[in-house]
Amino acid sequence: MSVTVLAIESSCDDTSASIVRDGYVLSNLIASQEIHRSYGGVVPELASRAHQANIVPVTDQALKKAGLRVSDIDAVAFTRGPGLLGSLLVGTSFAKGLALSLGIPLIEVNHLEAHILVHFIRNDKVNNTVPGFPFLCLLVSGGHTRIIQMEDYLEMRVLGNTIDDAAGEAFDKCGKLMGLDYPAGPAIDRLAAAGNRKAFRFAKPSIKGLDFSFSGLKTSFLYFLRDRVKEDPGFIEKNKADLCASLQDTIVSVLTSKLVKASNETGIKEIGIAGGVSANSGLRAAVMSEAEKRKWNLFIPEPGYSTDNAAMIGIAGYYKYLRGEFTDQDVAPLARF
Ligand code: KG4
Ligand code: ZN
Repeated sequence: MSVTVLAIESSCDDTSASIVRDGYVLSNLIASQEIHRSYGGVVPELASRAHQANIVPVTDQALKKAGLRVSDIDAVAFTRGPGLLGSLLVGTSFAKGLALSLGIPLIEVNHLEAHILVHFIRNDKVNNTVPGFPFLCLLVSGGHTRIIQMEDYLEMRVLGNTIDDAAGEAFDKCGKLMGLDYPAGPAIDRLAAAGNRKAFRFAKPSIKGLDFSFSGLKTSFLYFLRDRVKEDPGFIEKNKADLCASLQDTIVSVLTSKLVKASNETGIKEIGIAGGVSANSGLRAAVMSEAEKRKWNLFIPEPGYSTDNAAMIGIAGYYKYLRGEFTDQDVAPLARF
């Protein structure tokens, strides 16, 4: 039996629609909202309005790209949360309306679970294999930093979590202090390539177990810049590449060392990274080097599947469809899921 899922993602500032058939992605369209760049963060009201404007054309394009009509869909999957309530409401209402009008099942998806499930997308072109279970995944996004142990497609256990800021937030907030636009992660990654990662040292948090903390790093970065700029107002501009490289190196080394600890403690060597920050070239290089040393079977998402996208909602929806996990029409979005 073939299963075709139309998936909708609208948890933050990207409106995305995707068609996933039997674990293969037929299309994955993303409309990014440039409007937030100059505000230094996502403005919730503007995000909701942009989702409203984008959701129909993006869905239409996803169907066209897949060469399908709306009547070819077997189910509609959507992000129920976590995310911005107003943004989630647009995707949830649209998905509910579509499923109701077509008389097909509605499937709610947890955005965080979906980030991890990108590793189970099939792709004949690159002859990809998928992780075996148990699978250990470092999930690093703008809102979350977690180490998750997966026992099955939909069975996940959180082994470690951030006690304050997420890794993506650390990139974005420190970037803002350097005058970079939101989201600063990609720009820091680019600038870091030309910098010396040992130029400056920033304090690394010493948090017990597998938990993380990034708020101290942000504060120490703030005080460091404040003191240096007092001595030389041009300090940031003159040292931007080195600042980015050193900051990135600090964040990457905290993330990587916890992932190594988790693997050592659980004995699991099926390892992956996921979420927006998993696009970071420093993090990718660091986990690849650990994988080689430690004989991990490592999974790194294609760049387009690191940051928010609907294909990940589609693959999660596909596995839920196979298990008959459907959602009632009275479902409401959850900002905290
Ligand atoms: O997963 P995601 O797209 O959205 C959330 O669910 O939060 O993650 C967005 C985060 C932002 O903080 C952004 O700065 C960060 O991912 N990010 C990066 C890179 N690309 C995106 N951080 C560092 N390096 C990158 N290349
Ligand atoms: Zn995300």
